[in-house]
Order: sequence, then structure tokens, then C-alpha cells
Amino acid sequence: VTPRDITLVQDSLPRVLAIADEAAVLFYDRLFSIDPTTRPLFARTNMPEQRAKLMGAIAMVVRSLDRPEVILSNVRPLGRNHAAYGVEPRHYDSVGEALLWTLEQGLGASFTPELKRAWASAYKLICEAMVPAPAVA
Ligand code: HEM
Repeated sequence: VTPRDITLVQDSLPRVLAIADEAAVLFYDRLFSIDPTTRPLFARTNMPEQRAKLMGAIAMVVRSLDRPEVILSNVRPLGRNHAAYGVEPRHYDSVGEALLWTLEQGLGASFTPELKRAWASAYKLICEAMVPAPAVA
């Protein structure tokens, strides 16, 4: 993640938050259609609440992209919670794909190829903090 990626992603955040409610609905519909194995993980979830948590987490993470220590202290515990929810490492690929697709739909022409690459890099950074690397034997 370059400083330019961080600036691009942070500058796009208000545009994402402006469409947060629709974007969150689009996101979960897309996720469940590209990866039906993610759906049962949310079987007992209050989805309206979950959509708000997702957008809150995106805002928190994006605002702290330039502060790695904040990312690590917030995102590591979040990753451990996810393992307990039954989330597997491969699910992060599906979520990343659904996220980029949703941003493309929601932001239209302002989601330039450069901005898309910046979001992809930022998402990868978060995944690296959330998904523990395999332990060295
Ligand atoms: C960057 C990646 C992600 C972020 C920032 C994120 C964020 C969150 C947040 C903030 C919560 C609220 C509860 C908590 O704090 O633990 C949550 C819950 C949850 N997330 Fe994620 N998440 C991510 C990736 C994923 C992936 C890849 C999956 C798998 C499809 C997933 C499935 C779930 C489930 C099943 C819950 C629990 C819902 C419930 O309470 O019933 N998340 N996530």
C-alpha cells in the first residue's frame, strides 16, 4: 500500500459512506451469489445490524490506513473473532471480490482503475492482519 493508495482510498470514503445503506445491501447480495458457502455463516445474524457494522468497520479501517499500529490493534482481534464465527481464509477472497464489485456499482465512473487498485491493496493489507499466517512448524 503506497501513500498515494492511502490518499485515494481515504478521499473516496465520503462517497462510499454517502451510499452506505444501498452499498451494504448490494454487497451481501453479491457475496451470497458469488460464494453461497458464506451464507450459512450469517444464518443467525441480524442483517440490518450487520450492514451497519460492516460500514462502520470499513470507515474505521480506512481512516486508520496511515497508522499501522491502530490497524494491528483493532484488526487482529477482529480476525480472531472471525475464525470463531467459522470464517475460513478463502472466504476473504470472496469478500474482497464482492467489495470491489460493490464499489464499482456504487461509485460508477469515479471508481477509476487506479482507485480500484488502491482499494484492492488496502483490502489485502487488512486481510494480512486479520488472517493469521500459518504457524511455522
Ligand atoms: C476486511 C474484512 C472484514 C471486516 C473489516 C469485517 C468486519 C466485521 C465486523 C466489524 C463484525 C462485527 C462483529 C465483530 O466485531 O466481530 C463482523 C462480523 C462477522 N463477519 Fe466480518 N469482516 C470481514 C470479513 C469477513 C469475511 C471474509 C467473512 C466471511 C464470509 C465475514 C463474516 C462475518 C460473520 C459471520 C460475522 C458475525 C455475524 C453475527 O454476529 O452473526 N467477515 N465482521
